[in-house]
Amino acid sequence: MDKLALFGGSPLLRSEDHGRWPQVTAEDKAAVMEVLDRGLLSGMYAPATRAFEADFAKYVGAKHALLTHCGTSALQLAVAAAGIGAGDEVIVPAYTFIATAFACLQEGAIPIFADVDEYTGLIDPASVEAAISPRTRAIMPVHVHGCPADLNALSAIAKKHNLLLLEDAAQAHGATYQGKPVGALFAAGGFSLQSSKNLSAGEGGVFVTNDDAIAEQAIRLRNFGQDVIADDARHFDLVRPLDGHRGLESLRIGSMYRGNEMMAAFARTQLARLPELTSRAQTHFQKMSHALSELPGLKMQAIGSDRTSVHHKVRLWLDPKAAGVPMSTTAFRDGFIKALRAEGVEVVLWQNAPVPEHAVFQKMEGFGRNSPWSAGGAEAMQFARKNYAMKYEATRRLLDGSVILFSQSCPLIAQNEHVVGKTIQAIQKVWHHRGDLARAVAQ
Ligand SMILES: Cc1ncc(COP(=O)(O)O)c(C=O)c1O
Repeated sequence: MDKLALFGGSPLLRSEDHGRWPQVTAEDKAAVMEVLDRGLLSGMYAPATRAFEADFAKYVGAKHALLTHCGTSALQLAVAAAGIGAGDEVIVPAYTFIATAFACLQEGAIPIFADVDEYTGLIDPASVEAAISPRTRAIMPVHVHGCPADLNALSAIAKKHNLLLLEDAAQAHGATYQGKPVGALFAAGGFSLQSSKNLSAGEGGVFVTNDDAIAEQAIRLRNFGQDVIADDARHFDLVRPLDGHRGLESLRIGSMYRGNEMMAAFARTQLARLPELTSRAQTHFQKMSHALSELPGLKMQAIGSDRTSVHHKVRLWLDPKAAGVPMSTTAFRDGFIKALRAEGVEVVLWQNAPVPEHAVFQKMEGFGRNSPWSAGGAEAMQFARKNYAMKYEATRRLLDGSVILFSQSCPLIAQNEHVVGKTIQAIQKVWHHRGDLARAVAQ
């Protein structure tokens, strides 16, 4: 096999070979132009927003979908609309993006972390059960990388302890669990439309639920906690779109979480192409899994046979011992990244620490005077502090021993067969020369 590009061989890919994301088409541009021509750029009941919400609700099998300005605000709506607040604990995975935990803190609730499965990255039901306290109100699994969490096991725990299940489906548009799309399978959930996501609007989010009462609260919370109701849509007037018929009294704390018409129109045309692009990404993932399974010490995310992933991110686990290379896991990983990047492959870490290790949890300063942790009382503060001091060993092993193929700017869904084929070849090439990775690190 040819020399590694890192040591003077020819790279297999050029940066410009990669598909960037999101891909903006003539339909997307026409849809946004239509909004601009209409001149109505915002509003809960404005036409592009309503049309997107209806299409998205259908896509994920939800009765209600509400466009928000980001995925974090969609998750905040899920937490608050489900009635979770001051002093309540929500169990979230230690391996996720910070927003899962922040969605709880921003609503006055306390995130308590559970470890994940090392080879799926999904919240570990046994660790969830161990994290339950008398203050626990909900579990918020993350369908990480687009793969649904172990929902049967989690729902059994939720039932046993009388807890709510909220889904962080930020990365999982169209993923299914036992044949059903995830997001609104339990009390409520949230999706992200941030640029890297399989469904993108630049920024944005969608709150989903099948529960009418929770939806009613979410509508309110999205709009400064005001006395708005779903039925107000009937009185919407295109000529006076910003003038409602209500006094707009704020009944509870909310915020301005609405999206706008341009993002709705853009997301809607993107959504129309999503099934086809998801299916292509799934085929590419299968192809990579098949080709790489022959390499000793390399593993891709394990997807249960009862679910489908949309492969928002592609994680690759590396085991130097099984590969026969006497290097530490992190040194081997770093050498692998260097060698792959030299081949022109997009590869990133995405996260490098369990979320509870972030300073915000170690310090627990919060909004000041330890709020919101202090709302739970001294025992709750102590419980959280102990939880944040835990080791989260599976999460740590996952982070130290694996990499994300492709990147936020060039995710799998944007790649064609050529790039996927060359990426496979590059990994095979680096693996063939894996004995040289110590030299790669030293360089
Ligand atoms: C797992 C997870 N949860 C929540 C979010 C928050 O979404 P947003 O960035 O749109 O607020 C993201 C994405 O950034 C995410 O990956």
